[in-house]
Amino acid sequence: MQNITKITDGLIYLGGNDRRIALFESAFSVPAGVSYNSYLLLDEKTVLFDTVDSAVSDLFFENLEHALAGRALDYLVIHHMEPDHSATVFRLIEKHPNVQIVTSQKTSGMLKNYFPLSCENVQVVKEGDTMSVGKRSISFVSAPMVHWPEVMMSFIPEEGILFSADAFGTFGALGGAIFADEVNFERDYLDEARRYYFNIVGKYGIQVQNVLKKAAKLNIKLICPLHGHVWRKDLGWLLAKYDVWSKYEPEERGAVVFYASVYGHTQNAAEIVAAELAKRGVPVKVYDVSHTHVSNLLAEAFRYSHLVFCSTTYNNGIFISMENFISDLKAHFFQNRSYALVENGSWSPQAGALMEKEFSEMKSMRKVGEKVTVLSSVKEETRAELSALAEALTADFGA
Ligand code: FEO
Repeated sequence: MQNITKITDGLIYLGGNDRRIALFESAFSVPAGVSYNSYLLLDEKTVLFDTVDSAVSDLFFENLEHALAGRALDYLVIHHMEPDHSATVFRLIEKHPNVQIVTSQKTSGMLKNYFPLSCENVQVVKEGDTMSVGKRSISFVSAPMVHWPEVMMSFIPEEGILFSADAFGTFGALGGAIFADEVNFERDYLDEARRYYFNIVGKYGIQVQNVLKKAAKLNIKLICPLHGHVWRKDLGWLLAKYDVWSKYEPEERGAVVFYASVYGHTQNAAEIVAAELAKRGVPVKVYDVSHTHVSNLLAEAFRYSHLVFCSTTYNNGIFISMENFISDLKAHFFQNRSYALVENGSWSPQAGALMEKEFSEMKSMRKVGEKVTVLSSVKEETRAELSALAEALTADFGA
């Protein structure tokens, strides 16, 4: 049965939720599911903004036909060709063979790669182009690499509505409420919005900054992303989060101790550093990198200002889960943080030097204190070194 929601007079939400998905993009845990958003504008012309993932396609098509109420679909605007939004494009064209696709040049090429389409009904638009659909018009904003190179956004200037593609989205299914101001977003969704941002577009901070500069010139009153809630209030708060995140600045001052431990001795060292930080008044969290999904670790690393990486040595290298985590940080252009190192090894401790090499290849990473080496287990003298490391971090934290 259809389940549509009116956003404004003439704009309807058609999307759906997937709470059974195990890994979004086969990479990111989504214990609270994810929503796939699609929007229909009913003006003199009818305009569909993106389709949905195949997981919610049946509901989507039922919603679309109900919302159209017998009208033809005139336009499909494709902002982003990633299949979580475009998987149902071909099925849509089969149902509405006369629909005109409006999209970027790059998307028009991708369409032919994904689907057996002649693309005769494709109208290519570029930044600054505008088309009238009746009382309203739609203008187009290029947003390359937020999150793929073909991405564009569109804007209805008469009503200040921005269709923002992946930007301003979040992991987590919608729980009935479509609007962010209908939920306690900061309490219930911000962590997932941050995790979504850094894992999906965290690498492309410069491109996000470029889009934010374009957005600053628009009189935006409503943001309609492809995942998560629609925003009609507190837009400044949301834009400020994206500004901090895309500048790679810490969102909060605080420490996180990440450890990879096989038999508990490296964990012991990590917990001692954390306790010593807490005693000195530094807010601190601790994560076992072998037991926390790397997408959560990544988001927490980007969130805080001071990080401690503790790894045992394994096969003459960094322990596998820590190596994977640091590799993921590097792939997302992680930068601009203070960090400290603890290593363990029973015959040839090397993890510390190898981790330091990785961080030296990232931008503006500042090593704090002396690397602490644990030989198998923490002794009194090692404890003193861990305490000294916490002291150095505390001094840097207060600086
Ligand atoms: Fe939600 Fe980049 O797709």
